[in-house]
Amino acid sequence: MKELKEWFDALSEIGVAAEGGYYRGSYTPEETEMYRLVAGWMEEAGLTVRRDAAGNLWGKVDGRNPEALPIVTGSHIDSVRNGGNYDGIFGVLGSLMAVKEILKKQGQPKTTMEVVAFTGEEGSRFSIGLMGSHAVAGSLDKATFREKTDVNGVTIAEAMAEVGLDAEQVDEAVRDKVGAYLEMHIEQGPVLEKAGIPVGVVDSIVGTQQFRVTMSGEAGHAGTVPMADRRDPMVYAARAIARFPEIAKNSGDGVITVGRIWTKPDAENVIPGEVCFTVDLRHPVEEIKQEMAAAVKRVCEEEAAPGGREITWIPYPNNLATEMTPELKTMLMEACEELGYPCRLMPSGAGHDTLNMAKLGPVGMLFIPCLGGRSHCPEEYASIEDMEKGVRVLETCLNRLAY
Ligand code: GLV
Ligand code: MN
Ligand code: MN
Repeated sequence: MKELKEWFDALSEIGVAAEGGYYRGSYTPEETEMYRLVAGWMEEAGLTVRRDAAGNLWGKVDGRNPEALPIVTGSHIDSVRNGGNYDGIFGVLGSLMAVKEILKKQGQPKTTMEVVAFTGEEGSRFSIGLMGSHAVAGSLDKATFREKTDVNGVTIAEAMAEVGLDAEQVDEAVRDKVGAYLEMHIEQGPVLEKAGIPVGVVDSIVGTQQFRVTMSGEAGHAGTVPMADRRDPMVYAARAIARFPEIAKNSGDGVITVGRIWTKPDAENVIPGEVCFTVDLRHPVEEIKQEMAAAVKRVCEEEAAPGGREITWIPYPNNLATEMTPELKTMLMEACEELGYPCRLMPSGAGHDTLNMAKLGPVGMLFIPCLGGRSHCPEEYASIEDMEKGVRVLETCLNRLAY
């Protein structure tokens, strides 16, 4: 897999962040450069390349049977801020490698195969996770593209225009059904590495709900307003957030994260008038996830109550907890057995584009180990040997599905 390593090395030059790791936000020059390279490698592999109306990149090889629904494989190209070079990228490059290898060995498939590199899975620029695949599944309102902005106030539509895309045409990215979607990914946790198991077959992907919460109070001078007279939303927010771990604990397998918090006006010597924070909550069972969301709201309302001040909620798209298709789980496990790789069934606590592709057809996912279970950080790393095993498993499944 010398070539796979060369592809990783080439991408490792792009989007290097000054504070460590990488940043490849949607519709940035860095993402454009990544797409340029990946498109070139797709063409070398014999694929016909197109960029869809939302900016996702697709490489396709036509099958002999035009009636059969295409087999799609891939992942995302974007990254979180200060993230690594493997989250998403392994699924894109590994899938391309598997398709390239199988085309070399077996020539034209019976069923069309496609490799996809989605944009905006992380939501790190526009706070909409799985954005590119939502566009493909038709589960994102067009108004969102006109209204949502990045931290600099640039709307998604404006950012798209910078790279030659028209947000008004985004509906054209919606796809028909697919025959199957298979995604490879680094595990992003420590389970496989600790157990010394090279492949995880995903059983289900956790559901995620995110909100932006704004708690309002009364802005004032940090030195002159007596503590007893304050309506300080930072205190309300802190009390509410401190109760979230209890909500997560009571839910069983749920998790809650407040990853961003900011104030208005954002100054050392001003009691904030407003505190905004994000809530990311996840649970493998949809109903329990909804109960957690209700509990988070209740707690925020209770803690804000002394000031009687207002709370506003902006929900982001709700990603439903999703089971992987049983036949594809079995196929992935049988492929591991054939290749002599121990594997284990496991849940995914991270969201993936597979959640949206499940709206278009059967889905399967496999994980490979990553060093120390670290991800979404500059230390993220997966070895070429582990990646190669994933590629071989995928190739075996593509052989069954498309030949
Ligand atoms: C994506 O990495 C997510 O799970 O938020
Ligand atoms: Mn990620
Ligand atoms: Mn990812």
